[in-house]
Amino acid sequence: MTRPTLIEHIRTTERLHPGATGELSRILARLSLAGRMIAQRLLNAGFLGEHGETGIVNVQGERVQKLDELADATFVRVFESLGSVCAVASEERAKIHAFDDDESKAGKYCVLFDPLDGSGNIDINGSLGSIFSVHQRMDVERPVSEADFLQRGDAQVAAGYILYGPSTVFVYTAGDDGPVNGFTLDRSIGEFFLTHADIQMPAGGGAYSVNESNEGQWDEKTKELVASFRQGRAPVGKRAARYTGALVADFHRTLLQGGIFLYPGLVDRPRGKLRYLYEAAPLAKIAERAGGAASDGSRRTLELEPTELHERCPLFVGSRGDVEYAVESLR
Ligand code: AHG
Ligand code: MN
Ligand code: MN
Repeated sequence: MTRPTLIEHIRTTERLHPGATGELSRILARLSLAGRMIAQRLLNAGFLGEHGETGIVNVQGERVQKLDELADATFVRVFESLGSVCAVASEERAKIHAFDDDESKAGKYCVLFDPLDGSGNIDINGSLGSIFSVHQRMDVERPVSEADFLQRGDAQVAAGYILYGPSTVFVYTAGDDGPVNGFTLDRSIGEFFLTHADIQMPAGGGAYSVNESNEGQWDEKTKELVASFRQGRAPVGKRAARYTGALVADFHRTLLQGGIFLYPGLVDRPRGKLRYLYEAAPLAKIAERAGGAASDGSRRTLELEPTELHERCPLFVGSRGDVEYAVESLR
């Protein structure tokens, strides 16, 4: 039996929504196109001299890798001619990028992305990812502005990621109550095929995933919370410790095996490192749609109200029981 392709699956889902115009389907198709293009680029970067740094420091204060820039340019390119997307926001860009053709100016969708997540893994051939979030703007009569992007995570009309690992996997959810589905790329024909239907995040017991070298920068409750996982005192007992340095890879493992990923606030950076609009919010949407949970340590991630494009937030995401245990421990 031939598995459905991503495009077939998107069209089938679209038919479930009578009012659907097909615009969101085309956005998802373009996101998968960007993913296929980036996956191919990553394969050959090593011998094309595309590893390493550009020498630029981005708005995050981080050194930009050549592939960060290439991935960013790929996402912009696939939306340039679409028409339904009025503007995009990227981890690599200080401001939103509005498209200037007449059709796009009236476009009702805003797309946000972390074009290449886990960039520290590029030169060591580690797993990498891209994370995306799609919002709808309320008023298409006036020019798009940054305010159209500053929306709560629970307003997302679609969210997901692409994991570039031994295989390339596209995971997404659409609508308020859509399922989470995963598709694996057959490189030989450039098609994504359904391999993970209606993903349900297992209950607690999976690995805990945190950068333990930050322990000296956590408050006492956070130190005790992580120690309880490390020492097997957390619910469900002994856990593995797993941390790849790429949020998408750590999240994907947590989604499929359960457990918890933590990026707590730090004493000198109380909001932590991860960005709300294009890292925490899309993954929180995926987590909740798969039966898991996501919190900033006290509030539900999807209910946070962003005031800045690149604002950060602490992230505790994974099995519902594990996240609830973490929030209770931090109270
Ligand atoms: P990005 O490469 O997009 O900047 O994201 C890196 C993030 C995330 O992928 C990962 O979980 C985290 O940074 C790792 O941070 P530490 O090295 O501080 O643990
Ligand atoms: Mn990232
Ligand atoms: Mn990135």
